[in-house]
Formats: sequence, C-alpha cells, structure tokens
Amino acid sequence: MPIGNERQSVREQYGRETGLTTRMSIWQPPADGITPQDIAVEILRAADPKSLLEIGCGTGLLAERISRELPGTDVLATDQSERMVELTAERGVAAQVVDADDLPFDDDRFEAVLAAWMLYHVPDLDRTLAGVRRVLRPGGSFVAITNGDHHAGGLLAAAGAPLLITQFSSENGEAALRRHFDRVEACEVTPLAVADHQRAQEYLASFDAELAANLPPYEGERSYPGAVTLFTAR
Ligand SMILES: C[S@@+](CC[C@H](N)C(=O)[O-])C[C@H]1O[C@@H](n2cnc3c(N)ncnc32)[C@H](O)[C@@H]1O
Repeated sequence: MPIGNERQSVREQYGRETGLTTRMSIWQPPADGITPQDIAVEILRAADPKSLLEIGCGTGLLAERISRELPGTDVLATDQSERMVELTAERGVAAQVVDADDLPFDDDRFEAVLAAWMLYHVPDLDRTLAGVRRVLRPGGSFVAITNGDHHAGGLLAAAGAPLLITQFSSENGEAALRRHFDRVEACEVTPLAVADHQRAQEYLASFDAELAANLPPYEGERSYPGAVTLFTAR
C-alpha cells in the first residue's frame, strides 16, 4: 500500500490535488464533533505564536483557518509541490515551495511549526525533525498530526490490503519526536470514514487502482474508523 515508501512517488502523488481531496472528502468528525484540526487550532491559540511555519501544507485549508482564527500569527505555509503552494496562495496565505528536509530559514525563526499528515512522507525523518527543531525558537511549539497503524484498517482489510505502517505514526511518533524534543504530549482522535461503495473505491484508487478493484460490492454507506494522533513537542 503506497504511502510511506510509495510505488507512486510523493512528488507525483501531490503534483495535483485530486488524490488528496478525494481522500480528505470521506472523513467525518468523531462522535464528539472535535476534529484533529480543531485541536491543533486550540493548541496554537493557547501558545499564541507570533510566527508559524507549516511544512507540507497541501491545499492550504488548515493554514487558511489558522490565519483567520489567529490573526496575531504570521503564517507561512510551505510544500514541496508547486501546485499545492499555488492552491494555498489562492486562499490568501503566504506560501512557498520548500522541501521539509532542507528548511531555508534562520535558526529560531518561528514560534510554532505545524506538520499535518506529512512526516510519514519525508525521505529522512530525523533530518526533517532536526530542521524543525533548529528553526523553532526555544520554548516554541511543534504540532504534528499523523495516522495510526489501524487508520481505515477496516476499509483496507475489505479490499484485501494490509495495514499502512509508516515511519511516523500514532505508535512510533512519540519516540521519533523524543530524539529531538524534551517534552512530547499526544492526543488521540477517532474520526470516521463514511462512504458508499463508489466513494470507498475512489478513496482506495487514490492510493492504488488495483485495491479499488478488489473491494467487494456493498449497498448503502459503511463507516470505517480512523486512528489519528496529534503530537505537541517542545
Ligand atoms: C497527505 S498530504 C497533507 C496535506 C495537508 N497538510 C493536510 O493536512 O491536508 C502531504 C503533503 O505533504 C507534502 N510533502 C510530502 N513530502 C514533503 C517534503 N519532503 N517536503 C515538503 N512537503 C512534502 C505533499 O506534497 C503533500 O502536500
């Protein structure tokens, strides 16, 4: 299942937004209605940073929300994909093409850094985390969101696919962060993927067309639990 060590390269996968928006579209908030993005915004609101760097910003949804809800925070959104940067800039957010493993910023430049669902993609996780530590001012907050090994496991199993085990997950993320940060806190969230057969197939096809073909037909909508963790490191 291509996510960390993709058959389809990361650059190819995010050269256009189609796959990402398809994947995002089937997720609904957990029973309490509080999404990982809501929690990230509240953590950042409490930290009240004057400057925030987002790495791997994708289409810029979260960067736009942070800019709107935290007007005192100067947000710079970055991604390796030119198309993602273009989409983010269209939302009125300052955006720049940047590889997360080679951050072109001075030491201690930002009061907060955000990495949402992207650390499982970077070619050298420790290099990226060391770079984040370097550009983050001492006492600043690093917020990282990622999926657990069982994220959408029911849907993958229905298509005969194994779990997605990545280099930065709910299970192994804290250990990775502790190699670079003194304090790490984790918060678990369980969103639900809700999809009829066609949407479930589209979700699977955004990773691998073969998987979509393997999903046995079903009527109506089904719900598949997700597993998401939000880490805060300081
Ligand atoms: C799963 S998407 C998440 C996008 C966004 N953060 C969100 O929550 O919707 C992963 C994003 O990370 C970007 N990305 C992957 N590897 C990267 C790297 N080494 N440097 C910068 N961006 C990267 C991809 O281009 C893509 O936009």
